[in-house]
Amino acid sequence: VGGRASAPSLPCLPSLPILGSLLSLREDLPPHLLFTSLGRRYGDLYALYLGPHYTVVVNNFRHAREVLLQKGKEFAGRPKMVTTELLSREGKDIAFADYSPLWKSHRRLVHSSFSMFGEGTSKLQTIVCEEATSLCSDLLTQAGQPLDPGPVLMRAVTNVVCTLVFGSTYQPHDPELKVVMDYNTGIVQTIARGSLVDIFPWLRIFPNKDLKRLKECITVRDELLNRKLEEHKAAQASGGSEDPRDLLDALLKGKSSAGEESSITDDHVLMTAAEAFGAGVETTTTTLLWVLAFLLHNPEVQEKIHRELDEQIGRDRSPTLADRGRLPYLESTLSEVMRIRPVSPVLIPHVALQDTSIGGHPIQKGTRVLVNMWSIHHDPQQWEEPERFMPERFLDSEGNRFSPPYFLPFGAGPRVCVGESLAKLELFLFTTWLLQRFTFSLPRGVPLPDLQGRFGVVLQPLSFTLSVSPRFAWAADLGV
Ligand code: HEM
Repeated sequence: VGGRASAPSLPCLPSLPILGSLLSLREDLPPHLLFTSLGRRYGDLYALYLGPHYTVVVNNFRHAREVLLQKGKEFAGRPKMVTTELLSREGKDIAFADYSPLWKSHRRLVHSSFSMFGEGTSKLQTIVCEEATSLCSDLLTQAGQPLDPGPVLMRAVTNVVCTLVFGSTYQPHDPELKVVMDYNTGIVQTIARGSLVDIFPWLRIFPNKDLKRLKECITVRDELLNRKLEEHKAAQASGGSEDPRDLLDALLKGKSSAGEESSITDDHVLMTAAEAFGAGVETTTTTLLWVLAFLLHNPEVQEKIHRELDEQIGRDRSPTLADRGRLPYLESTLSEVMRIRPVSPVLIPHVALQDTSIGGHPIQKGTRVLVNMWSIHHDPQQWEEPERFMPERFLDSEGNRFSPPYFLPFGAGPRVCVGESLAKLELFLFTTWLLQRFTFSLPRGVPLPDLQGRFGVVLQPLSFTLSVSPRFAWAADLGV
C-alpha cells in the first residue's frame, strides 16, 4: 500500500496491507455511529484505510466548513467506485462524476433546468399539488385501517419525479410506474450492499449476485429512459412547443443551445434523468417517513402543527408555497427531523484535488474525505440535548424560524445537493397537505416506530404501521 510512509500526521487507525483498517472497523455499528464513536477515541479528525484508500473522517462543523465551503473547490473531487461507475456510465452524472470543466457545465445546465420549473415558474408546485391531491384521496380510502405509509409515499414521490423528468403522470397501479419503482428499489438495495466491491474493485471479477441484479436494474432503467429521450428528441425535431414541458425537454434545449463545442452528450442527459430518481426518490420519501415516525412518538408536536395550520391556512383552501414563512413551527419540525435523522448521515465521499490541509493538518492530493453529518448534527457543543426531538430549537424567542450554519442536511459548497430546492418544496407541500387534512396515530396494539433506523444508501426507518383519520370532510375541489 504505497504512500503510507509519507502519510499525513493525523491520528490513523491501525491498518494492514490490502485489508486496510477494516479489521478495526468490524464493529456492529453503521458507519455514521462508528465514525462518531471512533472520534471519541481518535479525536474529531482522524484517518483510516478503507481497503487501500487513505480516508480522512471529519466529525465537527469547523472542519466540515473548511472542506465544504472555505476550500470547497479543493475538495470537490469524487472517487471512482465500481458500482457508481456502472450506474453513471463512467461518471456522466453529477453526484459521482469527478470534478472537471465538463462536470461544471453539466451541473450548471442541470441547475438551470431545475430552476426553470422551480423558482422560474409554478410548474413544480402544480406537479406536487396534483400528486398531493391523489395521495390524500388514496389515504382517505384507507382511513381507520392499519397502514404502512412507505409504499404510498414512495409512489407519490416517484410520480412527482416521473412528471418532472419526462412528463408522465401515472395512476397508482400503472404497470410503467411499477417498473420505475422496481428498478429504483433494486438499484438502491444493491448499491447499499455493493460497498465491498467499491472498497476492493478486483472483487468485480468474482460472481456477485448483487452486481448482477444491479446490472439488470440498470438495463431496465436505461431502456425506459432511452425511450423517453427518443420521444422527446422526436417531439423537438418536429417543432414541439417553445416552452420546455419537463426536465428532459429543458436539458435537450440547454444542451443544443450550448452549441457544438459543448461536450455534454445524450448520455449526460440520460444520466441526469436517471439521477433525479436515484438521488431524489429514496431521500425525499425517507424524510417524509421520518416525519411521520417522529410525529407518532410526539403527538403534542402534531397537535401544535394542526393548530398552526388551522390558524394560518384554515380549511377552505390548500396550502401553497406562498405560505412558506407563515408556518414556522411546521417548518422547524421538518428541520428537526433532518437534523436528528439526516437521510445522508455521511456525505458522498469527497476527494482532495490538490495538496491542501484540514485544521492545519496537511492533506495530500487524492485523499478521500468523509464528512460525518451525523456527528455534526448531534454535537453537544452546538445542540442542547442533541438526542431530544425538539422542533423549538429552530425557533428564536419571537417564534421566527432560523437555520444555524452547522445545520447542513443537504451538504454545502460546490457539491451541495442539486435537488435541495425541489426536495424542500416537496417536503413542505406534502407535509402541509397531509397534516391539514389528517391526524396520524398509532393503531391499537401496534408498537411505536423504531427510531434508530437502518443504514443502506440512506438512513431509513424500519417499516412501521399507522392509522390515518380525516380531520374534516373536504370538498373534492378544495382549491389551491
Ligand atoms: C447530493 C441530501 C434530495 C440530487 C446530496 C448530498 C446530500 C444530499 C447530503 C451530498 C452532498 C455532498 O456530497 O457534499 C439530500 C436530501 C434530500 C435530497 C436530504 C431530500 C430530502 C435530492 C433530490 C435530487 C437530489 C430531490 C434531485 C432530483 C442530488 C445530486 C447530488 C446530491 C445530483 C450530487 C451533487 C454533486 O455531487 O455535485 N444530496 N438530497 N437530491 N443530491 Fe440530494
